Amino acid sequence: MTTSPLTARLTTEQESTPDRQWWRDAVVYQVYPRSFADSNGDGMGDLPGVTAHLPYLRDLGVDAIWLSPFYTSPQRDGGYDVSDYSDVDPRFGSLSDADEMIGRAHELGLKVIVDIVPNHSSDQHELFQQALAAGPGSPERDMYVFVEGKGENGELPPNNWTSIFHGPAWTRVTEADGTPGQWYLHIFDTSQPDWNWENPRVHELFRDVLRFWLDRGADGFRVDVAHGMVKPEGLPDATVNAQGLIDIPEGEVPIYFDNDGVLEIYREWRPILDAYEGDRMMVLEAWIPEQRLPLYIGDDKAHQSFNFGFLQARWGVQTMRAAIEKPLALADAVGSPTTWVLSNHDVVRHASRYGFAPDHVFGEGLSRDEVPDAELGLHRARAATLLMLSLPGAAYLYQGEELGLPEVRDIPDELREDPAHRRAGVPGRDGCRVPLPWVQDAPAFGFSATGRSWLPQPEVFGELAVDAQEGVAGSTLEMYRTALHLRRELGLGRPDGGVRFLRDLPGGVLGVSRGEVTVLVNTTDAAVVLPPGPLAAAEVLVASAPLEPGTLPADTTVWLRTA
Ligand code: GLC
Repeated sequence: MTTSPLTARLTTEQESTPDRQWWRDAVVYQVYPRSFADSNGDGMGDLPGVTAHLPYLRDLGVDAIWLSPFYTSPQRDGGYDVSDYSDVDPRFGSLSDADEMIGRAHELGLKVIVDIVPNHSSDQHELFQQALAAGPGSPERDMYVFVEGKGENGELPPNNWTSIFHGPAWTRVTEADGTPGQWYLHIFDTSQPDWNWENPRVHELFRDVLRFWLDRGADGFRVDVAHGMVKPEGLPDATVNAQGLIDIPEGEVPIYFDNDGVLEIYREWRPILDAYEGDRMMVLEAWIPEQRLPLYIGDDKAHQSFNFGFLQARWGVQTMRAAIEKPLALADAVGSPTTWVLSNHDVVRHASRYGFAPDHVFGEGLSRDEVPDAELGLHRARAATLLMLSLPGAAYLYQGEELGLPEVRDIPDELREDPAHRRAGVPGRDGCRVPLPWVQDAPAFGFSATGRSWLPQPEVFGELAVDAQEGVAGSTLEMYRTALHLRRELGLGRPDGGVRFLRDLPGGVLGVSRGEVTVLVNTTDAAVVLPPGPLAAAEVLVASAPLEPGTLPADTTVWLRTA
């Protein structure tokens, strides 16, 4: 293998992505606004902070950003508890800050995807407050799922459903006259009442929300809990109940998710998006068995959905190969490319996930006693990323993964904000939401000028800060930049040529052919010598670890130019 002077071939200028179905092979960078960059020093990230760092994202080489919710919200679930879908929470700025952010992103050639949360609102939403005040049987109550309880005096919940954040999915209200009253449904936190999608007024409300953000220039929506919304008739007891967002055993989805009626909502929304210029899109977050996902996708439904199978695949040739083949086959069947994702704001960061034995069973977040092998984790995470970025379809990155940030395990309990932690004491998802380090030698590592940070940043974030990695050969940041620019230049996200798995490779090595590029992943803990011939002699485009000629180190991925 010969190493080429890559940087010479890379362009720093953003090449404009053709508008036509840009989302098919886009690389989308997830911004978690609370933790990206704080412009006003209050310790909480904000929209002007995002705008200020857009050139960084353009230079990183992504095509689009997706922002987790920045709408008005009491922040009981990090903003996924929305009290006004058409305004910006003052913690994050104002509507004009949102306009400015979208405008600046477009100037830089970046698309903007915003989050929409249609399964539930915040209990502080004015319509929920009106529902509480109006009483049983009123049209106001009918906007949400209010039901009489069971038992002689309605003292038992209407059914046995449990909340994704643990505990019952029902809360009983006190009526205006002070008596115990109806129960309302909340598949998530008590503060997140489910909308009643049987009610046409709920449909109308969300059509307006879509138009509101499309009018402001949003290029698409990430649909939260996209398999929720529609509940089975009569609200029967569940035979399977979920505990935790992603802990859904294969084929066992709780009865309140993945009901066919939800597909009608996407049929209703699609023409709204299509009526706008410029290829607006929807990507769905649905933790359901992957064979169900194609039902949600199509010219009259959603454009794409997250494929979480790759994220869940254990490190190893067979598991990763299956996690590539299956979604590709399903995507072919619906004529829409798949997506790839390794990290997001709900899962343990992949730099830490891979630091455990492949059969490690993850709970919700990492506890203090679950100590990953940090070096191994980062090593494999970089290798997994390079594999992911070589695959056809869209790739979704989570802020900070380009720095190799680990999951933070030692956040003091009293500072944790995840409702699952509050409700059930599990570590929860705060460990992947710690504010980003931008500058090694600055207060709060440059996240905020005052040194405030809503979650404490660990020491190790200093050496992983953007300025500590920028221009440093072999750093995780430079590896991402190189790979993203090459992916664009070589069109690796496009379906051309498909994915061909190579045979006759040394044991434990996964080989993928992507047109002129061959990708080799050594999943073993020892270096392998490549057989003499074209592979051993090929030009190295990028590698996840330093290479010795003719060998592939342990837990390492390399892209080779073979044609
Ligand atoms: C989605 C979000 C998650 C949130 C939940 C409830 O799964 O990704 O962060 O807690 O929905 O809205």
